[in-house]
Amino acid sequence: MVLNDEMGLNLLKKKIYERTGVDCSKYKDNYLKRRIDLRMKAIGIGTSYNEYYRFLEKNHDEYKSLLDGITINVTEFFRDADTFDAFKNMVIPQLLSEKVKRNSKILRIWSAACSIGEEPYTIGIVLHEKLGPGLNNLLASIHATDIDGKALSAAKAGIYDAEALKKISKPKVSKYFDVVDGSDKYRIKDKVKNLVRFQQHDLISGKKFSHFDIIFCRNVLIYFGRELQHTLFLDFYDALNDGGYLIIGKTETMTGEAKDKFTCVNTRERIYKKDSKNPGIS
Ligand SMILES: C[S@@+](CC[C@H](N)C(=O)[O-])C[C@H]1O[C@@H](n2cnc3c(N)ncnc32)[C@H](O)[C@@H]1O
Repeated sequence: MVLNDEMGLNLLKKKIYERTGVDCSKYKDNYLKRRIDLRMKAIGIGTSYNEYYRFLEKNHDEYKSLLDGITINVTEFFRDADTFDAFKNMVIPQLLSEKVKRNSKILRIWSAACSIGEEPYTIGIVLHEKLGPGLNNLLASIHATDIDGKALSAAKAGIYDAEALKKISKPKVSKYFDVVDGSDKYRIKDKVKNLVRFQQHDLISGKKFSHFDIIFCRNVLIYFGRELQHTLFLDFYDALNDGGYLIIGKTETMTGEAKDKFTCVNTRERIYKKDSKNPGIS
């Protein structure tokens, strides 16, 4: 890439925002450049962002392909299995014992940047595994959001190929999936699906949510600049009930002002607790 092409990059960011409403200036520059370079290579454009910009203006569909390239959807069921073990054996019991004390039956979970649904459905499966019929005594819901409409459509369909289920034992596959007639695909069963509500939402510019007991936001913050990460950690703090948990990706680290507001309760699995009476040291 031409070194003095920064102006071209800035122009691109401005245009992407105007045409799509997605504020790319909040993503890390290096990440953004890598994704744009890949698109440029795919359509055979040389090295100039200005040239790519001109192409985009003549081919508006390319804005969509570029956004697809920026929002990488890589995900899997039980991604980082140890994290879901900690969710099952530490977070759920602690949270529910506090709920029993407060006589509360509502359990609200947010899977932020949920991609094609494998994360929120994993959360649903873990809830069933941990609570069994006791889940019926709770008003449990999983709010699953992503910026990418195409990923959300796949998530809502809830149909996956056998490869996607490789981390799930055979008995659990039969318990939580139906074989789609005449195919080698599997559909998530309604008992899990009905726990999840999907919604398109941009973490950068979207509305602020509140009253969640647990927030999963994994493997998306790494693409964002530091300042935005700090803002989002504070947004998650505000979105949690007192005593609620934030679970981030295993390669992500909490930094900024929020670090002093949360208590890190599991360093390895990046699990943080909001306790406004005792902010703790993370
Ligand atoms: C690598 S996937 C992570 C999926 C899942 N959380 C996991 O850990 O397996 C990143 C997701 O972040 C979404 N994403 C990227 N930018 C976003 C934004 N500004 N707001 C909401 N979601 C975003 C992408 O569409 C993609 O589905």
